[in-house]
Order: sequence, then C-alpha cells, then structure tokens
Amino acid sequence: MNTSRRTVMAAGLAAGVAATSVGTAHAAPAHAAPGRTPTKTLFGTLADGTPVHLWAVANGGIRLEVLSYGGLVHRLDVPDRHGHRANIALGFDNLADYVAKSPYFGGLIGRFGNRIGAGKFTLDGHTYQLPLNDGVNSLHGGTKGFDKQMWHVEPFAGRSGTGLVLSRISPDGEMGYPGTLKVQVTYTLTARGEWRIDYSATTDRATVVNLTSHTYFNLAGEGSGPVYDHTLELAAARYTPVDAGLIPTGELARVSGTPLDFRRTKPIGRDIRTSHQQLLYAKGFDHNWVLDKGRTSHPEYALTLAEPRSGRVMKMYTTEPGMQFYSGNFLDGTLVGTSGHIYRQGDALCLESQHFPDSPNHPEFPSTVLRPGQTYRTSTVHAFSTR
Ligand code: BGC
Repeated sequence: MNTSRRTVMAAGLAAGVAATSVGTAHAAPAHAAPGRTPTKTLFGTLADGTPVHLWAVANGGIRLEVLSYGGLVHRLDVPDRHGHRANIALGFDNLADYVAKSPYFGGLIGRFGNRIGAGKFTLDGHTYQLPLNDGVNSLHGGTKGFDKQMWHVEPFAGRSGTGLVLSRISPDGEMGYPGTLKVQVTYTLTARGEWRIDYSATTDRATVVNLTSHTYFNLAGEGSGPVYDHTLELAAARYTPVDAGLIPTGELARVSGTPLDFRRTKPIGRDIRTSHQQLLYAKGFDHNWVLDKGRTSHPEYALTLAEPRSGRVMKMYTTEPGMQFYSGNFLDGTLVGTSGHIYRQGDALCLESQHFPDSPNHPEFPSTVLRPGQTYRTSTVHAFSTR
C-alpha cells in the first residue's frame, strides 16, 4: 500500500469514529462532514410538482451525491494520489436533463438490468410482454424503469459506515412485470474508502429481478476525455456472446484469443478497434463477462480499474455472477455533462454487476426468478485507493 492510500484510510478511520448517531437530515449542514449523517437539499422539481432532493454522503475520503429521482448517483468525488478529489461519475447539472435525455447516468436499474429479448418472457406458463425501448427489445426495466422513479430515502450513520437506504414499492404489473415488488437499496460509504451497494427485494407473485447500478466512471474525472488509457483486469475466462441486437446467444464463450480477454490487466483502448464481430455489434465493449467466482453469498473479487495519471484505482467485489462492461459506445457528443463538457464516445465506462442479460429466456443461465417467501439479495463493493 502506498502513502496516499494510507492517508485516505487514516482520514476515513478518524471520520468513522464520529459516525455513531443518526440525526435529522434537515438539521445537518449543507455539505456532509466525513462520516456524519448525510445531508439533504432540494435539487429540482418534476413537471408534476414533485420535489427531488439531493443527498450528500461523505466518509473514508469519498463523497457521494444521490438524487431521490432514480436513486441515481449524481456525483462521486474520489481523491487522486495527491489527495485531490474529482467527480468520477458522469451526470448533468440539472434535473430536466436527467428526466429528458439521460442514458441511465448513475441510475438504479430495475426491475431488470440489460436486455430482455423481444421484451417477452414466460414464467410458470404465463407469457409477459414488456415495453420495448431498445429496438425490438426491452432494456433496463422498460420505458419508465427504477432509474426514472421516485425513491424514499432514509439517511443513516453508524459503525458500518454512513449512507442512504432507498426504498420503493413497485406495483404489480409495473412495466409489464408481475408481482408487487418491495425493493430496498442501501448505499454505504465505509471508513475504508468503499462504496457498497446492498440490494434486496421481495414479491407477492413469482417474478424476475436483476438490479444493478449504471454509474458511468471516468477515473480521471468526468468530462476529461476518453477512458482508453484506463487499465482493466476482469477475473472472467468467459463471456456471453450476443447477436446484432445485443441479445445473448446462450453460449458461454472463452475470452482467450479475443479482444474481450482482460484476465491480464490491459488498457481499455488496446483492442477496442479490433474488427471482431462482437465489437462490431456493440461498437466496442458492451458485453456480460461470466465472473470466474460465480454467484457467491459474499462479495468476491471481480475486477480492477485503474487510471495512470491520477493514480485512482477502483476494485469491484460482488455476489453477482456477471459483469456488464460497457465502454460508453453510444455517447455521441450531444450531451453536456455536470461540469459543462460535451460527452463523446468512450468518455466513460460502466461496470454493472448483474445476472446475465435475457436470463428469463435462458434456463441454462443462473436464475433470476424470485418467488413469494424468498428474499432477493445481492451486494457490490467499489473499493477506492490510489497507486
Ligand atoms: C447497455 C448498453 C446501453 C447502455 C445504455 C448498458 O448497460 O449494455 O447497450 O446502450 O446501457 O446507456
């Protein structure tokens, strides 16, 4: 561990000591002190008059800002090797853009991360039709998924860290999915400089669930240009190849000998222009890697993302069996981000821990079915450090 990593951890530990009580959000100062109860400010108002709040959480040297609209990550401020913090998450500086044109920036994705082929699946003999919002397929929970819904937010600060509990009840039939789904998502910043997400859900009818987070990362800072020199190591020997509509064929193919081989760390840009059919379909990387560790009861190592100039490193650990690595292929210079810069292709990447896309139509994939009496539980940890 180098000096700056030690510094971050020491600051976090000191902050953690103070983080023992839960106060009222309204009484807290505008910007959360490290390890203190998260603070709440008004961010904007939806067309129907609903106020949208911005919650700020700080601990372990990291600062996270989340909106009650979409449970979305608006900012994520992380120190570089010199201790200078930068916002490493793409977003907008206003609510209207999040509502009208966001490609899921920071969004809490549900009920189903990634695509369901033809927006259709059959469960217990009944076929469900979902709204189609990606050509002939359904993407990220449909036209008004969890990333476009209001969330109830409760702050907490305690020994495990400081953070937010987001919850909502998704009514039976919402976006075509069966069952009343009670969802709870906890964002925790720990004193060790980790951002942890714990998802849980229960249903009153058999359904399918696959929740994830759609943060667009640029470890050099949002709006600073392409991420091609970020290095990535992904602990996955296989991936799920897709067809032209980015729907898995059902095969678990080996990454060996393909541009999708990230088992040894390499810059994201090294093979991104290889004329491999999978990269042509996706205009770059936009695939689900089958994590070697499989589905686990506790978060286990999945990947390391690093940015050489800032020295920022993000490791991810998850209980999930899959990881969608999307290299920002569809950013096209039409969106103006949080700091006023235009976002172009490759200016960020998403790393979405998940079950495999289109699982409801692939009985051979790990199941995404949730039945009454069961509790859906998954966790993902983003651990920040510098080198
Ligand atoms: C998908 C991409 C999609 C993007 C939307 C990713 O999770 O894999 O295909 O374009 O989300 O921003």
